[in-house]
Amino acid sequence: MTATKGLEGIVATTSSISSIIDGVLTYRGIDIDDLAENATFEEVAYLLWYGKLPNAAELEQLIKDFNTYAPIPKAVIEQLKLYPKDANSMAALRTAVSCLALYDEEANDMTPESNLRKAIKLQAQIPTIIAAFARIREGKEPVAPKQSQSIAENFLYMLIGTEPDKVAVQALDTALVLHADHELNASTFAARVTVATLSDIYSGVVSAIGALKGPLHGGANEAVMAMLEDIGTVDNVDSYVHDKMAKKQLIMGFGHRVYKNGDPRAKHLQKMSQELGKITGNMNWYDMSIKIEDIVTGEKGLKPNVDFYSASVYTSLEIPRDLFTPIFAISRASGWTAHILEQFDNNRLIRPRAEYTGPVNQKYVSIENR
Ligand code: ACO
Repeated sequence: MTATKGLEGIVATTSSISSIIDGVLTYRGIDIDDLAENATFEEVAYLLWYGKLPNAAELEQLIKDFNTYAPIPKAVIEQLKLYPKDANSMAALRTAVSCLALYDEEANDMTPESNLRKAIKLQAQIPTIIAAFARIREGKEPVAPKQSQSIAENFLYMLIGTEPDKVAVQALDTALVLHADHELNASTFAARVTVATLSDIYSGVVSAIGALKGPLHGGANEAVMAMLEDIGTVDNVDSYVHDKMAKKQLIMGFGHRVYKNGDPRAKHLQKMSQELGKITGNMNWYDMSIKIEDIVTGEKGLKPNVDFYSASVYTSLEIPRDLFTPIFAISRASGWTAHILEQFDNNRLIRPRAEYTGPVNQKYVSIENR
């Protein structure tokens, strides 16, 4: 038995949800470029769960369900108020989603209808949790979700407490479309491993949130912004990036396990970053990002991934840096739950082997002789 470090190149399951073939990402066979240009996040969530785009009545019903389920139990809000004000926002989300399960009477119902309903509930409630946490830690009351046509709009409304700007809603909606699913990424794999034991959907999503939090995965968007803030201005990019490269340190937001010729999602976020920079009158984040890309791609051949330009996009939307990864979770909840439903549909325990590299032929030594 020989291990493959990081399971690179290992095909661990079949899936009909999303594919990455020759650098092209599709959701249910539809190119991400097409979806980014034309689809709403609600249509994408439906597509991931049901395998087809919704017709008008089906979309209306899904939006109605999101509005019905968006409020979170009062007990969960009361617990959010007990979290430390400086709690890590992904840790807070992970804990609160786990808590949601305690107040859902059907949390452990394993029927397909119940699991699909819980997928919709989770998708509706995760944005409410994040917005409530963000307000509570600032000493503000959470804002209840309103009846809305879109999760992007409702999230921004709950976060800022007033009607959000249309451009911001559109930008966030597109970002949600772009992040919704990505084949067997680390967090989705974590979710599938968890539910393959026939554990419940909440446990699967909690595992996924824990995996997304890391800076090699979803946490990279926050790390990119920390880097941009550290650099400060375009004039400092050159020395900063060369210093990092000389020290063989990671440049966050670059590189990808699967894409070696570029992440197809990055160009959409780059365009959005540029447009939002023009609208806000602050091109600094975009200009720095472009210069970093020039150097890192030019000299190391590494291309930006989905997290690189999403950092400047969210900053232009005035979203606090530590909510970037939770926003990724809002979007990826659709993919996680679609994969969980697919796993349940054709389940087998996921239990690989390890190549043993420890000592052999050892004997027990009694404690007085150690
Ligand atoms: N900065 C500098 N060097 C890098 C970077 C980077 N961002 N990414 C890869 N490299 C280098 C590695 O050091 C390695 O060099 P070596 O061969 O001299 O040792 C080589 O490129 C190959 O990299 P691996 O680490 O083998 O690539 P792997 O597939 O294991 O990792 C990963 C992929 C984790 C995304 C990596 O590129 C990375 O750490 N990037 C920065 C973090 C990041 O942006 N993560 C978000 C990914 S997208 C997502 O999850 C949503």
